[in-house]
Amino acid sequence: MPNANRIDGKAKAAELSKIIAQETAELSSEHDLKPGLAVVIVGEDPASEVYVRNKKRTAETCGFHSVQHTLSADASMKDVLGLIDELNTNSEIHGILVQLPLPEQLNENLVTQSITPEKDVDGFHYENIGKLTAGDTDKAFVPCTPAGCMLMIEDQLGRDLSGLNAVVVGRSNIVGKPMASLLLQANATVTICHSRTKDLPAVCREADILVAAVGRPAMVKGDWIKPGAVVIDVGINRVEEGGKSKLTGDVDFAAATEVAAAVTPVPGGVGPMTIIMLMSNTLRAARRANGLT
Ligand SMILES: NC(=O)c1ccc[n+]([C@@H]2O[C@H](COP(=O)([O-])OP(=O)(O)OC[C@H]3O[C@@H](n4cnc5c(N)ncnc54)[C@H](OP(=O)(O)O)[C@@H]3O)[C@@H](O)[C@H]2O)c1
Repeated sequence: MPNANRIDGKAKAAELSKIIAQETAELSSEHDLKPGLAVVIVGEDPASEVYVRNKKRTAETCGFHSVQHTLSADASMKDVLGLIDELNTNSEIHGILVQLPLPEQLNENLVTQSITPEKDVDGFHYENIGKLTAGDTDKAFVPCTPAGCMLMIEDQLGRDLSGLNAVVVGRSNIVGKPMASLLLQANATVTICHSRTKDLPAVCREADILVAAVGRPAMVKGDWIKPGAVVIDVGINRVEEGGKSKLTGDVDFAAATEVAAAVTPVPGGVGPMTIIMLMSNTLRAARRANGLT
């Protein structure tokens, strides 16, 4: 009999969207200021196009000025850096996001680092990573996926995770590492796992908070989960089932609901929270750029 809470990221993101829209309307009426988000996409990757469409739609729902720049798949570094330069100095744009992955000829790191830290709403610039790692989260732009995961964890367990063990599976710069920094800052005792970790199931079984960010469908089994744990499934995997393609996470959701206290579904968990945190970062960037707290 399943007993876990299904953590509804979609509903929470919808609530936050209303708050952001309200704050945006106030910003507009009191300061004649509209948060501006520029999304850059290079090439025609279908998954990236879906993500970018969703981001644009949510930005518009929040009342933002939203622009999309689509460059051809054979765009050069000069083309991309030239566009970012323009956006860096455009006063109507407060947040810049370059949809990853980029085509092979482009150096992802150079592109990411060329966005001015004040407009780096994805939180990938070294300056923002440094602030996050140093515990200066009020000043940093925190990467959107871990920021969204953290809000869902706080809803379940509160803001102070003292005495709790957190295990993060995955050590990417986008998810695993910043997730671990946020958990550490909330006083959890944090273990980061990856493909070289020995006896991963045993490590996971120690977790009061288990975050899976791997990219392997249903890798985390029910018997990897400590009874009563909070499980956050970041994975997005496309799988074929009964001749149809569907999205699934890194956690065996049905099995997890038998053991955990709370689990995020895929879809409808981390994904919508990621997008809304992008809006939250953009709103903050707009305020900061105009000297407002
Ligand atoms: N919901 C969202 O909004 C959102 C946002 C971002 C990403 N995602 C999804 O989250 C997943 C992870 O994304 P990412 O960008 O962090 O991926 P990534 O850069 O490919 O990193 C994957 C991590 O998983 C580890 N790993 C791979 N196989 C493993 C195994 N068998 N056992 C233990 N660890 C293993 C890798 O270890 P090594 O470092 O040792 O190779 C790596 O650290 C993907 O499915 C992605 O689509 C979702």
